[in-house]
Amino acid sequence: MKAPQNGRGSNDVSHGCENRRLSGRLLAKSVPYAKASDGMTVVSARPSEWVRPVTSKEPASAIIEIDRVSQVFQTSARRDHVALSDISLTIEERAFVSILGPSGCGKSTLLYIVGGFVTPTSGAAKMKGQAITGPGPDRGPVFQEFALFPWKTVLGNVMYGPRQQGVRATEAEAQSLALIEMVGLKGYENFYPKELSGGMKQRVALARTLAYHPEVLLMDEPFGALDAHTRTRLQNDLLNIWERDRKTVLFVTHSVDEAVFLSDKVVMMSKSPGRIREVIDIDLPRPRRRSELLLDPRYQKYVVDIERMFDESDEAGIAS
Ligand SMILES: Nc1ncnc2c1ncn2[C@@H]1O[C@H](COP(=O)(O)OP(=O)(O)OP(=O)(O)O)[C@@H](O)[C@H]1O
Ligand SMILES: [Mg+2]
Repeated sequence: MKAPQNGRGSNDVSHGCENRRLSGRLLAKSVPYAKASDGMTVVSARPSEWVRPVTSKEPASAIIEIDRVSQVFQTSARRDHVALSDISLTIEERAFVSILGPSGCGKSTLLYIVGGFVTPTSGAAKMKGQAITGPGPDRGPVFQEFALFPWKTVLGNVMYGPRQQGVRATEAEAQSLALIEMVGLKGYENFYPKELSGGMKQRVALARTLAYHPEVLLMDEPFGALDAHTRTRLQNDLLNIWERDRKTVLFVTHSVDEAVFLSDKVVMMSKSPGRIREVIDIDLPRPRRRSELLLDPRYQKYVVDIERMFDESDEAGIAS
């Protein structure tokens, strides 16, 4: 079965002019400065590329290209197991793209391939035209299994990336404090991971990844293990951060409403072997507010239509 194509003749993932216009306005406003710990030195809390205004004239360019990727795993019984089959997908800069699909359809495998943690059996994944051959600081994973350093405080965890990149301690600290505040953890800088709740750890993990300024965030069900209330709060926080900073995000989730709420595009996968079933444009205005969206018939229709696709997959026996 050939993967369905969108209107541009490929699984081309982009976002609309409206988004870029809004992001220009929001980015231009968001130039925070932070005081270093001595209370005297004032340094830029974030590098200039974070606040580069984006105009509606700027063409969206592809940042990630996944070209006919297949992944075959050897099982312990020495049988071939096709996890992904012939996946082609282009993701444009600053787009928020969610991947939805039944359990076992290959969502994590696809993210690991883009992260450079898995080399595909055939086909290629590229970042800015360069073949992905391993992990790199341009792609920041926020995976549940990537635990925080238990021996470091919240601040120590967040500072780790910038320090590794050679940023001076005072500057790294100022940047990290700004990020910790941004993810709502001001006051917890000196706590250790074991002293934090699950949702707080996820916030630290997000801040730690943001701290080394990856161009692409790779998020694999980052809120999957959280209670509904914390999940909603973190979705709102992530959306606020993203609407301000406009990183490219590839976000795996099982939740249809989470995908519709956050995304410019939703990639629907089908199982056995994992293929792209459909790419859906989420044409809802930004900035998005949950209370408004829940009442918006367009949002409701996206959710119902995508849930119906899941049901059809079940009936066709291709979902879990
Ligand atoms: N290292 C591996 N060795 C063998 N098979 C694997 C390996 N990793 C994944 N698989 C298989 O590949 C398929 C896709 O797995 P993957 O973890 O990507 O699915 P997923 O869509 O992320 O599922 P979930 O939603 O449950 O997280 C599954 O059938 C899984 O059993
Ligand atoms: Mg998974």
